[in-house]
Amino acid sequence: MDFTKYLNNRSNLVERALDKMLPGKEEYPSIVNQAMRYSVFAGGKRVRPVLAIMAAEALGFKAGRVMPAACALELVHTYSLIHDDLPCMDDDDFRRGKPTNHKVFGENMAVLCGDGLLTFAFELVAKNAELKGVIPGNVVRVVKIIAEGAGTRGMVGGQIVDIISENKRVGGPVLQYIHTHKTGALIRASILTGAVLCNADEKSLRALRVYGEHLGLIFQIVDDILNVVGDEKILGKAVGSDKKRKKVTYPSLFGIKQSREEVELLCEKAKAAVKPFGKKAEALLALVDYLKERDS
Ligand code: IPE
Ligand code: IPE
Ligand code: MG
Ligand code: MG
Repeated sequence: MDFTKYLNNRSNLVERALDKMLPGKEEYPSIVNQAMRYSVFAGGKRVRPVLAIMAAEALGFKAGRVMPAACALELVHTYSLIHDDLPCMDDDDFRRGKPTNHKVFGENMAVLCGDGLLTFAFELVAKNAELKGVIPGNVVRVVKIIAEGAGTRGMVGGQIVDIISENKRVGGPVLQYIHTHKTGALIRASILTGAVLCNADEKSLRALRVYGEHLGLIFQIVDDILNVVGDEKILGKAVGSDKKRKKVTYPSLFGIKQSREEVELLCEKAKAAVKPFGKKAEALLALVDYLKERDS
């Protein structure tokens, strides 16, 4: 399959849906809508919504079936980036190739805009129940999946341990907690969201969950590696900042070579997990290599 073409197509669908669903810039109070749109349309890879779509397609459904919830995942992710970049967090000036949200709109608006995105995300999840054929009970399950993935037992929990571990000597188990939570939890939730909305049976859910867990780790280890060896212009965000802030990362604990070997191993495991889907897993398999080799 031409994966680049596939990814472009699916992320364009997400782009259009986001534009349609988000409040217009002129809607009062305009400043928050401008701020939300600024970060959402700054050019993310759209990995999380596309993952929800890929799960749907692996189960024989079309993107439209999961689109509102897929957009919700991107909004939760974008909020997490806006807050992650704040001076009280990672204090970063660039994101997605543009000045960070607080640099443009101020810290107070950046916090509120993040709050707005997170809340609006759940409005979109609820909207998914209005689509023909979607079982309302499955939307309720998705609310739980996304809330858990994003909250203190998921992404926020990972962010907390990431912050309290700065400047500290922590070991592998803490690093593992940080990675599986700050990044892995929402990635796992993304694939489960697509699967549940498409009535996946227990066996498929289990397979996709294992795939998602491995993919989440791959994603964050690669993010750590790129923070050491990446190109700021291509990445659209700072390089070398983890070392500066004394963050615990895969390269800081194990070195680049071992981190890359770990990624290879995880890629094999992720691919093995979705083997039972046969040809329907083509995009899921290609995504593993894409995320392993990405430079942005
Ligand atoms: C960056 O996520 C932050 C992490 C969780 C590692 P992405 O690499 O998906 O960022 P965008 O959405 O493409 O900007
Ligand atoms: C971001 O982790 C994770 C979340 C926003 C939940 P990082 O702080 O490591 O990611 P970047 O390098 O700023 O994108
Ligand atoms: Mg961070
Ligand atoms: Mg950061």
